[in-house]
Amino acid sequence: MPGQCAEFIPLEFPKRRLVPPGWSCLLAEVVVVENESVAGELVARSIRALIAGKPDAVLGLATGSTPLPIYRALARSLATDPLDVSRVRGFALDEYVGMPAGHPESYRAVITREVVEPLGLTAQNIHVPNGDPSAIQTAGREYEHAIVEAGGVDIQILGIGRTGHLGFNEPGSSFSSTTRVKTLTEETRADNARFFDSPDDVPMHCVTQGLGTVLRARHLVLLAFGAGKATAIAAAVEGPITASQPGSAIQFHPHVTVVIDEAAASKLANLAYYRHAWANKPTWQGI
Ligand code: PGA
Repeated sequence: MPGQCAEFIPLEFPKRRLVPPGWSCLLAEVVVVENESVAGELVARSIRALIAGKPDAVLGLATGSTPLPIYRALARSLATDPLDVSRVRGFALDEYVGMPAGHPESYRAVITREVVEPLGLTAQNIHVPNGDPSAIQTAGREYEHAIVEAGGVDIQILGIGRTGHLGFNEPGSSFSSTTRVKTLTEETRADNARFFDSPDDVPMHCVTQGLGTVLRARHLVLLAFGAGKATAIAAAVEGPITASQPGSAIQFHPHVTVVIDEAAASKLANLAYYRHAWANKPTWQGI
């Protein structure tokens, strides 16, 4: 089952990918915040501004604990100051393979509970990869086509696993991979066991957007909280670009914002510079 490749769909990268003369790369912007709730407010403001300017914006949705402060802050903001979100579209990063229909920890169920319902999004506009075992041979290709048809993802929310995975792209994933079936590492299965009655219930396989899919989004926002993520964040932001650290794929992207707390930032070598750059950033730029 693992290792099946979706059809490769060549797409132009966002124009901001072009590196100005004299630069060898564009650095990620790293924003160190006091806590998860400040991070959630910051990113929610950016998403709100995006939707205000583009009512059918395409959101790249992540699951797990990390993005929850964003969804909660956005729900609060929409409750106090309503905005038409009926045309907003969304694509989840991944889904488990073979979860029983209606299982509360399927990512379809999580996205519905944590995002669609609290934000009042239109359910038909929100896509999650098809983890039905009978459909997974074509699930990747169909998902890629749906993203392309939607015009691509405007803002992709990302967490990062202790293994360095983005989505469920575990170490070794190709930087040009598209949506496909992957086998979860035992470390990831152990981390996700907290959502299940027994560790054995955590599925072995998933359908995940590829790193190539993620890199085609126009803006990447990577969040991480806690000391347990410090090594993965340092490798993603400052480490060598290597498939052994899937998070390091962000270094290829022209517009990345990394929003982390002090603990997750604790292994970054250039922390003083990131703080300096953020403190002196023109406010009109946003993230
Ligand atoms: P977490 O998961 O937000 O639950 O820590 C992140 C991830 O595995 O990508």
